[in-house]
Amino acid sequence: MAEYDRFEEIKAFDETKAGVKGLVDAGITQIPRFFHKTILCDDSISTPDPRESQFSVPVIDLRGLNGDPFERREIVDRVREASENGGFFQIVNHGIPESVMEEMKEGVRRFFEQENEVKKEFYSRDYTKPVFYNTENSLYTSPYAGWRDTLNCRMAPDPPNPEDLPLVCRDILVEYSDHAMKVGISLFELISEALGLKPNHLYNIDCAEGQLVFCHYYPPCPQPELAMGTTKHADMDFLTVLLQDDIGGLQILNHNKWIDVPPTPGALVVNIGDLLQLISNDRFKSVEHRVLASHVGPRISIASFFCTCVTPTSKLYGPIKELLSENNPPKYRETTVQEYLSYFATKCLDGTKPLDRFKLTIPE
Ligand code: OGA
Ligand code: NI
Repeated sequence: MAEYDRFEEIKAFDETKAGVKGLVDAGITQIPRFFHKTILCDDSISTPDPRESQFSVPVIDLRGLNGDPFERREIVDRVREASENGGFFQIVNHGIPESVMEEMKEGVRRFFEQENEVKKEFYSRDYTKPVFYNTENSLYTSPYAGWRDTLNCRMAPDPPNPEDLPLVCRDILVEYSDHAMKVGISLFELISEALGLKPNHLYNIDCAEGQLVFCHYYPPCPQPELAMGTTKHADMDFLTVLLQDDIGGLQILNHNKWIDVPPTPGALVVNIGDLLQLISNDRFKSVEHRVLASHVGPRISIASFFCTCVTPTSKLYGPIKELLSENNPPKYRETTVQEYLSYFATKCLDGTKPLDRFKLTIPE
């Protein structure tokens, strides 16, 4: 009976097509039960490791990237270190103008704060659509829903027709995504070099072929202690480039401890996704992260996921041959992005990570 109630409650919410923002606009003071954190997927951590309490997410300045080869090498070293350890870093002087980043956040705000009648037209759970908005992709299946709404745009390959993008943020979405793609390509060069590969290796195996741009809007939450903005997860893509505003709340898991990714003026947050961990044969780490709910908001963030995800391709990805040796045998079997995504979508309620399901058992 309880399960039935829950489904009905979610369905009624879904059918409003007004998202979490709709609840806040209606003036609710108690959040619906399906947003309540549950023990099952508890985000709290029992025993933090005291040794790592000094860890912080590094900020890497890309200014010298295309000048002095010595400076480039230093940047590559820092990218390697960050990708091997925390799995997250921030970059400054990445080439995206401040004005573009500001306008992008404003564009997302305009989308979510426009009239409901217009916004509603974009509400959908059909993931094959190039552009749609909703609350939590796995609203019906996850143990609890995140306190946020998201506009999902597939910008590459096969970019949407401009008319399919919301009018209030159309131009800036195209402009920002172009910039983010350039940053992504530069990062894939740096990461290739950091792995000891030719600079164009990851680009040539099409790591930058797909780009999904998810525009998140986290309304202020009346009971933040009961909810989570984004529940704990690792990204399933190759690489994510995130623009966050100055509110904060993003945290990464490091040695059993949640570490803040502090908003840094002009910076983008970069993290390694599962598929890059897989092809790097565990050298680079896809790290779990979450976003806390807050009384303060709305918080706006824009995530560019580099991954073909919803566009079927038959390309196989496994540990990169050049990285393997007798001492470093492949840890994973090959997979397609689609297959990986299908495993990823069925949430691992028992706590196993999607990546673990692709592990090869190495003979003794
Ligand atoms: C994500 C994500 C973090 C944020 O979209 O996968 O982790 O700050 N977003 O919104
Ligand atoms: Ni994420």
